[in-house]
Amino acid sequence: MTRWDAHVYDTSLKYVADYGKELVDLLNPQKGESILDLGCGTGELSREIAKSGAIITGLDNSESMLEKAKSKNGNIKYLNQDITSFQASEEYDAIFSNAVLHWITNQDKVLENLCKALKPNGRLVVELGAKDNVATIIGSIQELIKEEGYPIKEVSDIVFFPSIAEYATLLESKGFWIESISQFKRPTLILDGVQGFINWINVFGIILFENVPKDIKPKLIEKAANSMARKLEKDERYFADYVRLRVVARKSN
Ligand code: BEZ
Repeated sequence: MTRWDAHVYDTSLKYVADYGKELVDLLNPQKGESILDLGCGTGELSREIAKSGAIITGLDNSESMLEKAKSKNGNIKYLNQDITSFQASEEYDAIFSNAVLHWITNQDKVLENLCKALKPNGRLVVELGAKDNVATIIGSIQELIKEEGYPIKEVSDIVFFPSIAEYATLLESKGFWIESISQFKRPTLILDGVQGFINWINVFGIILFENVPKDIKPKLIEKAANSMARKLEKDERYFADYVRLRVVARKSN
């Protein structure tokens, strides 16, 4: 399995897009609006937004994800670009992003670029991991890597999980006016038991294993998956300890 495996993303990890449908409702796309789907992945939510008659541009840096997206939605425009260096060639009515922005540790730059990419009063509708997101999952991995004697990777060097206060301050400093911002726990059912956690690690958490020798990695991933599964089991089902931050903001100038 490669890191951004489009098939795994659309099956074992399908809950990412399923939960994103609530965010599409919050976006409330209108016919004829131009909307950028930032980090569109395999295009599930671009397709959902397009049902409104809005004109969608999907942006992602993974070619294999975009291949899959194109096979599903032939008439949506897709851009293969990195969000961190994204310079829009047009101004959008809205920018939408589900479960992507937390991958960017240089949020200052991204939020500046996004503000520039919006029309005046254009809206930003995003969801990302909040403070303490998947703390049990990450804690289990770090604990095990440390126990085995390998150096651990700092989570803050990899992902950005802000609190409400931190993100609100940042958004305001970059020219956004916040309409709503909320933080909530969302225990997320992991399909396929321990294998589901292995899939999760291979897609979202593999970078934490960067200091583990290649030949030892699969065994350690399995061990970490078993450890988190024990902690996150409830009535013979497994729930990842997701915490989300959901924002609707407008370009204020
Ligand atoms: C998330 O979608 O919550 C997530 C993404 C990357 C690492 C950990 C969690």
